[in-house]
Amino acid sequence: MKSKVNEQPTNWIIEQIKLKSLRKKIQILDFASGNGRNSIHLATKNRIITAIDKDSQKLNNYKNFNYINTICFDLETNKKWPLKDEYYDIVIVVNYLYRPKIRELLKLLKNGGYLFYETFSVGNERYGSPKNPNYLLKNRELTNLFSKENEILSYFNGKVIEEKISIKQRCIIKKTS
Ligand SMILES: C[S@@+](CC[C@H](N)C(=O)[O-])C[C@H]1O[C@@H](n2cnc3c(N)ncnc32)[C@H](O)[C@@H]1O
Repeated sequence: MKSKVNEQPTNWIIEQIKLKSLRKKIQILDFASGNGRNSIHLATKNRIITAIDKDSQKLNNYKNFNYINTICFDLETNKKWPLKDEYYDIVIVVNYLYRPKIRELLKLLKNGGYLFYETFSVGNERYGSPKNPNYLLKNRELTNLFSKENEILSYFNGKVIEEKISIKQRCIIKKTS
């Protein structure tokens, strides 16, 4: 199926996943997947995508794509997420932050699986939205949160120049427990 989504995927994540997934069939979760720019780009017969977001209109644009299962769900309530524990080889989170449940992301991964996280961090408020501290990671926040029981494979916090300038944090976490 052809994509109607014009947004560019997150190059950093796409390239890293290509390196990590060779011939084996893997399960990828795109958490707060939005318009599906990453899900659509990643979906192949060897990469089965679950895309979850609360916005059904956005999900409708790619719900019929091959190798993508969409789930419409509010991830910020007390209801258990409709996602399988210890099931995904890779979880990606891009431009989304909800601190109260952030640690639960690791439960969704198989042992040895990877969490790829990229979102805005403190300092971004100088360049544009988001400016609200609830949506801005602090320096080393992801490594501090996850390094105890897991392996941090890559960490970056700083200026990213894409269509516009932003301050972002990128982290790859390997689940080791
Ligand atoms: C800035 S967009 C990023 C979308 C996608 N990850 C990307 O990078 O293109 C943030 C997404 O989070 C979703 N979102 C916000 N709050 C949510 C919630 N409580 N439950 C589920 N999704 C939520 C929004 O619907 C939106 O699609």
